Amino acid sequence: MTAKLLEGKVFAGQIKETVRQELTALKSEYGITPGLAVIIVGENPASRVYVANKHRSCEEIGIYSKVITLAEHTGKDELLAEIMRLNLDERIHGILVQLPLPDHMKNAEKEIMNSISPAKDVDGFHPVNVGKLAIGEESLVPCTPYGCIKMLELAGIEMNGKRAVVIGRSNIVGKPMFHLLLARNATVTVCHSRTHNLAEITSQADILVAAVGKPGFVTKDMVKSGAVVIDVGINRIAEKKLVGDVDFQAVKEVAGAITPVPGGVGLLTIAMLLHNTVKAAQMICKSSS
Ligand code: GUN
Repeated sequence: MTAKLLEGKVFAGQIKETVRQELTALKSEYGITPGLAVIIVGENPASRVYVANKHRSCEEIGIYSKVITLAEHTGKDELLAEIMRLNLDERIHGILVQLPLPDHMKNAEKEIMNSISPAKDVDGFHPVNVGKLAIGEESLVPCTPYGCIKMLELAGIEMNGKRAVVIGRSNIVGKPMFHLLLARNATVTVCHSRTHNLAEITSQADILVAAVGKPGFVTKDMVKSGAVVIDVGINRIAEKKLVGDVDFQAVKEVAGAITPVPGGVGLLTIAMLLHNTVKAAQMICKSSS
């Protein structure tokens, strides 16, 4: 058996179409164009590429995009002041501080991220949004796990009553993924680096999500026949070669459906950032009308 390929571009296209419709509605109902501000500090080459992609995607779809580039040596207070300005800026509905921050700011990362207004926190990293997700209130949800869930929904994959296993417990992917699957009535197990008998657990999964950061970590013997396998890993193994956390060639022979890397859930992350920016604008407009 060869698994059905869940291609990111198909689902990203569908999500962007909905975003376009919501942009039109916001324009006619409130007369606004949502705005996203992305702050990048320093010269990290990968971050520069990610930020440029975000900017281009906003422009293509019709979201106002402001990229603020700060020098590597920028101080914490200067960055906090910039965030405060954006929190008050009526043209801006979403704020994203690109991670990682330079080394001298690492110990202030929490303070910096938490200074973003929860209403404009399109990363969904603020404790207010994390808490709302945990208790099932409407919130801004981290883009990568939200993209995985949207993909499952758009592909018509049933989550209700299914066994889901998430490998990885990060705040950005594993933990929000747990809440999102649980909210859709899956029975969810979160595994991590201290988990015993990992393969025994993963091989019970109807839906298996890998967010480990290790190339080829999920092997064929860890996957139940017919399972849906979502690969969140992006691992650079050579200059121009990206692979996921799943041994794709072997696992596609047992899985029922599988996401490739590249070309899988990564493409949904930016689509969900656009979605979150529009959602933030909708919530801001509703709360002030
Ligand atoms: N750097 C890599 N991924 C992300 C992300 O999702 N959000 C932010 N803010 N920085 C990142």
